[in-house]
Order: sequence, then C-alpha cells, then structure tokens
Amino acid sequence: MPVDDAFARHDMAILYDAFNAHGEDGPFYLSLAQEPCRILDVGCGTGLITLPLAARGHRITGVEPGAGMLAVAKAKPGAERVDWIAATAAEFRSDERFELAIMTAHVFQVFAGDQATLAALANIHRHLAPGGRLVFESRNPLRRAWENWTAEKTRQTAAIDGIGCVEVFYQWRKIDGDRVIFDAVFTLQDTGEQRKSESTLRFPPRETIERLVRQAGFSGVDCCGWWDGSPYRDDSPEIIVTACA
Ligand SMILES: C[S@@+](CC[C@H](N)C(=O)[O-])C[C@H]1O[C@@H](n2cnc3c(N)ncnc32)[C@H](O)[C@@H]1O
Repeated sequence: MPVDDAFARHDMAILYDAFNAHGEDGPFYLSLAQEPCRILDVGCGTGLITLPLAARGHRITGVEPGAGMLAVAKAKPGAERVDWIAATAAEFRSDERFELAIMTAHVFQVFAGDQATLAALANIHRHLAPGGRLVFESRNPLRRAWENWTAEKTRQTAAIDGIGCVEVFYQWRKIDGDRVIFDAVFTLQDTGEQRKSESTLRFPPRETIERLVRQAGFSGVDCCGWWDGSPYRDDSPEIIVTACA
C-alpha cells in the first residue's frame, strides 16, 4: 500500500506537527495504561503520542511506513527509548507481544477497504499478548466531516523553525463509495513554494468497523463517541473502539 506524499516525503513530514496537535484524544491515549507495559503504536507518524508514552516508562514500539514521518520521529529527543519499525500495519513483524496497541489520529481510515483493514487488524491481533487491547478511532461518517474540508474553512498558518510562515488548506475533491479523496496544500510564504499531497480516507460506519474487528479475531468490542467516554450515538463525532485480543 503506497503512503501519501504528506507522510513519505521528508519535506512534507517536517510540516506535520505544526498543524496536527492532539486535542482531547492526547490525554485519552496517554492515560490508557496506568502501569508501565508493552505498547504498540501503529502508524505512529512523527511520534506525537509515541514519545510521551515512552517518557512515561512504557516499552513502546512505533510502526510507521512513511519514511519522512519516521525520520522526523527518530530525530526527536527521547527517540532512543522507542523501537521503530518501518512498515505498514499489515506487514510489520515483531517478536514482542504487547498489552496495548493503539492507532491515533485516524490511522484506521487509511485502510482502503475491507481486505486491507482485515490484514492490518489481523496482524495487530497476532502481536497482542493474551488479554491485550486494541484502541483506535475513526470519524463517524454520519457527521460528514469532509464537507468542511474546503480551502475557505480549513486555511491556517503556522511559523515553523527554519522554514518560516507556512499556510495549509485541505480541499475534498471526490467521494468514491465510503472513501473521500482530498488534497493537502502547503504554501511556504517566504518563497511561494507549494507542496501538495493527495490522500484517500475511508469512512466506514460503526457496524462495518465492529464486524471487521470481530472478523480479525477480537472480542469484547466496545464503542464510545467522544474522549470523555460518552457512549456512541449517531451524532457522535468519533467512533472510538476498544477491542480485546
Ligand atoms: C494522520 S497520521 C497520524 C500519525 C500519528 N498516529 C499521530 O497521532 O500523529 C497517519 C499516519 O498513518 C501512517 N500510515 C499510512 N498508511 C499506513 C499503513 N498502511 N499502516 C500503518 N500506518 C500507515 C501514515 O504514514 C501517517 O504517519
């Protein structure tokens, strides 16, 4: 499965953190494991959640197929505490067995269809210790978040060290079944240079997600609708899934 330019290219990955700070999901993921344990962070990106988990004393493995993202993560302070694996969710291999696996910031939505999703979930399941948990989230398709992914509604700027002021906007272009194709367009304001990446995200409904998670071997599947533990409802922004191995 090819990785988007936004994640594969180093000159785009270095822009990621400035526009993707975690909100309430950050404390949610950081507090999932109370005691130090073995954690697998699939699609760990630049390590925004991985590195704080390592700093809390967890033994953590970060799996990431985007070369640019992985290079940014590995250059950060504390990176030596993490086992980094350059691979996709479906292809990574580790001799470790983990008590907790997470996919943060909607990584789950990069899996293009049922087959790709099952391959990823089954591989994660194989790497969990007995009783281990998988926790991830997907945007609720009933909220149609992509309708707000327009240049007018998403344009923002940030000052980035060594690069200067950068503007980004997101624009959805096409709906293909339950998948949304959109562009991320970055402009470096000092030079006018544009860096553009096309992405596709899948928006499966709750029933499909639960079916795939069970099919991959998980049990005890539970869904919340927000980071405070509110139960999932049709108008919830998120489908936050916890499943047991
Ligand atoms: C929106 S970023 C989230 C990064 C990180 N989890 C965070 O919280 O900031 C999505 C990440 O998923 C990664 N990704 C894309 N395809 C993947 C796959 N097949 N398996 C695992 N990760 C993948 C991307 O390279 C990217 O780093």
